Amino acid sequence: MIQRINHDGVLIVGAGLAGLSAALACAPRKALVLAAQPLFKGSSSAWAQGGVAAALAPNDHASIHAADTVSAGAGLVTASVADDITRRGVAAVDRLAAFGAPFDRDNKGHYALNLEAAHTFPRVARVQGDGAGQAIMEAMVAAAMADPLIEIRTGVSLKALLKDASGRVRGVLAETAAGLTEFVAPATILATGGLGGLYAVTTNPRELRGEGLAAAALAGADIADPEFVQFHPTAIDVGADPAPLATETLRGVGAKLIDKTGHAFMSAYHAKTELAPRDIVARAIHRQRIDGLGAFLDAREAVGKDFPQRFPAVFAACMAAAIDPRKQPIPVAPAVHYHMGGIAADVHGRTSLPGLFAAGECASTGLHGANRLASNSLLEAAVCGQLAGEAAREVADPGTAPLPAAPVSTLPPAAMATLREALSRDAGVIRDAEGLSRLIVVIDDLEAEHSRALPLVAARLIASAALARQESRGGHYRADFPNLSSPSRRTLINLVQQSAGVAA
Ligand code: FUM
Repeated sequence: MIQRINHDGVLIVGAGLAGLSAALACAPRKALVLAAQPLFKGSSSAWAQGGVAAALAPNDHASIHAADTVSAGAGLVTASVADDITRRGVAAVDRLAAFGAPFDRDNKGHYALNLEAAHTFPRVARVQGDGAGQAIMEAMVAAAMADPLIEIRTGVSLKALLKDASGRVRGVLAETAAGLTEFVAPATILATGGLGGLYAVTTNPRELRGEGLAAAALAGADIADPEFVQFHPTAIDVGADPAPLATETLRGVGAKLIDKTGHAFMSAYHAKTELAPRDIVARAIHRQRIDGLGAFLDAREAVGKDFPQRFPAVFAACMAAAIDPRKQPIPVAPAVHYHMGGIAADVHGRTSLPGLFAAGECASTGLHGANRLASNSLLEAAVCGQLAGEAAREVADPGTAPLPAAPVSTLPPAAMATLREALSRDAGVIRDAEGLSRLIVVIDDLEAEHSRALPLVAARLIASAALARQESRGGHYRADFPNLSSPSRRTLINLVQQSAGVAA
């Protein structure tokens, strides 16, 4: 027996920065926030070390931030989106601060700013060195919990979207402690985060497996650029799952990438050495490791004895693995960190389906293109989450009945492990047709055995779009097609139209 909960406000799936930014923008409407995991646990936002990118420095300007974003995105950033979101950056940081995010300040009270790769200026507003994500989320959770218009329910796992007979999204079907439940509302915002958990090596919470992306795709939403997965170059390589992160800010303050002989190798790969675009650094480290030369982040000189105070989260992760970064280089490897692709959405979260909004990492607004500029993700989550909440609160109740949705299956742990290994092997830093075709066979086999599960749908979107993109661009590198092709084009997929034989 499926129960039904009717909510007279905005339904939000996901309690990371995008979801809570949306919830806090819904007033005077109510917001019901659903999260699969306990607060903080299943959200990448809380794990972010860098901070929020915005043109906060006196000599910086949103147009320069937008130009950096476009340049990092390797031909696929939508310039008007980059302009719009970067222009809203300073206000977004101020709004987070007003909610209580304790950003570091200089002695004049201005935001203290970090430099990260491919940014022209230091522009990343940070908290306690490398603690931005946790501190921002603590402030947002406190604000949301204090708001009488916001209700948060955890332990609620998305299974499918609900639509009415006209195709309008009316809410979601979810698994709760009480069984399958339909949550019905006038407007639904997906803020379900990314999909790093589909890969064996990731810096994201393992629980993030592209469920929102997959459920939206199955409901017929347009999906953009799913092949573009960003690998963070410097995950700490100690065999942990998920892999702890060594923030890019370490390279911003002068830490070097060295091989096992102590040679700093980045000058062989790019003129900007350690601060080259993230995809280039990730591939360089991948190459070093394949060649048996090893890759280590050496912060002994740049940070040294100040490590515990300046980078407490990285220091704790290193020490937990018996590595003292004051005295030893940190072994590093690329790990899946961010999904540039997602549910096609505008900056207000509007998707191709009426009644459905998407914001944050599960959405693809065109801001990140083929390669996200560091710390633009919290910016986008804060800006687009707020705008999506403001847009969704205007949606009137259509009063229509949702049609029943068929829940998808759940992958057993062994099947999930097979999928994760296959994606890391065949849709990783370097891809080719042989590996991607092999991956699709793995997905076919898992689907034949376990029927259609949301992680399989998300994995297939990545694999098939990566196979179709016969070029190398940003985070998508094809060994068999190493060059850019022209003109650049975004991928747009609509599974429902595809299965009906209509081009997206
Ligand atoms: O390295 C970092 O701190 C990561 C930043 C980001 O991915 O935005």
